[in-house]
Amino acid sequence: MIQRSILVTTLLTAALTGPAQTPTLREAFKDDFLIGMAINTRQIEEKDPAAARLIQQQFSAVTPENIMKAEIIHPGWDVYNFDLADKLVAYAQKNNIKVNAHNLIWHSQLPGYVHRINNADSLRTWFTNHITTIASRYDGKVYSWDVVNEALNEDGTLRNSVFLQKLGPDYLIEAFRLAQKAAPHTKLYYNDYNIEQPKKRAGAIALIKKIQAAGVRVDGVGIQGHWRANNVPMADIEASIREFSALGIEVMFTELDLGVLPNPWDNTTADVGQTAANRAGMNPYPGGLPDSVADIQAKAYADLFRLFLKYKGKVTRITFWGLDDGMSWLNDWPIRGRTNYPLLFDRNYQPKKAYFNVIATKQQP
Ligand code: XIL
Repeated sequence: MIQRSILVTTLLTAALTGPAQTPTLREAFKDDFLIGMAINTRQIEEKDPAAARLIQQQFSAVTPENIMKAEIIHPGWDVYNFDLADKLVAYAQKNNIKVNAHNLIWHSQLPGYVHRINNADSLRTWFTNHITTIASRYDGKVYSWDVVNEALNEDGTLRNSVFLQKLGPDYLIEAFRLAQKAAPHTKLYYNDYNIEQPKKRAGAIALIKKIQAAGVRVDGVGIQGHWRANNVPMADIEASIREFSALGIEVMFTELDLGVLPNPWDNTTADVGQTAANRAGMNPYPGGLPDSVADIQAKAYADLFRLFLKYKGKVTRITFWGLDDGMSWLNDWPIRGRTNYPLLFDRNYQPKKAYFNVIATKQQP
């Protein structure tokens, strides 16, 4: 009996994943929005043929997970390391995939020497050189830039970053102005987590309006989307799509993953700087994702995609933060060494129930 049900499941999966029966993500949503993933170094270098094949089949956009962050691409005052970013651009061209470059200005993953700059004029020089050099090199080669990442606090005020402290609040307008000049053929976005939440959303709207009022181009906003499968803030997400798109800009979900593990805090954050120690009960599924949890996650993903489809045209890209559950940053954040299951593909690159549910939103809207 057990043998037989395994066989039936295997055949069913084979039938569903066959090219004639189930379209890939990029095919299914080709008239709706781009479908992206966060790509890591091994994947850019195509070290794993199965991963390379899956990315090429499923995704129409990629965001570099780490290699275009300042600590890697600009490791010394006068030192730039373009090697992996150049490889990424070549890889994306070859596979007809768009690149969303991530990111120009962010308080995290900055190289140590930037924290040691204590004079405002020097930081301004660094800021200008950083944006101008990198954005101009990739203009016309990448589709878009996350120009500024995570500039806001939860209450909507500006985060007290090294940029705010030394350059003042207009550093945001300046970042977009410099990017616009250096990359006239590239879309320019503001990206953050929790900006679907009312207070932080109001802060993001005020910020975008301020940039627009200065006559500077901002083409879109990225809502990161690091949520929990059992607690996706659907009403806030819908309100955000409406309010952000009313500013005349694109709305994207740029780092989507729906974690299934307990939260060490009561608040929801995606602040990479906030971590917690492991303790009993925090890693409940080391041997596999229980069906009941997979069902909750699959439903949450389907609800989200139905909402995204309702606003197609306003929502222009959905990017998952990683290829498969094994590669997800949520295995090591906010607690190291857990086993999380936040994405559409499992650790063997097989599509999960959530994958089929997402595709089905196109078949039964
Ligand atoms: C994460 C990466 O996934 C990790 O590999 C890295 O160690 C830390 O950063 N918000 C962002 C992303 O904008 O750049 C972060 O990526 C996740 C949270």
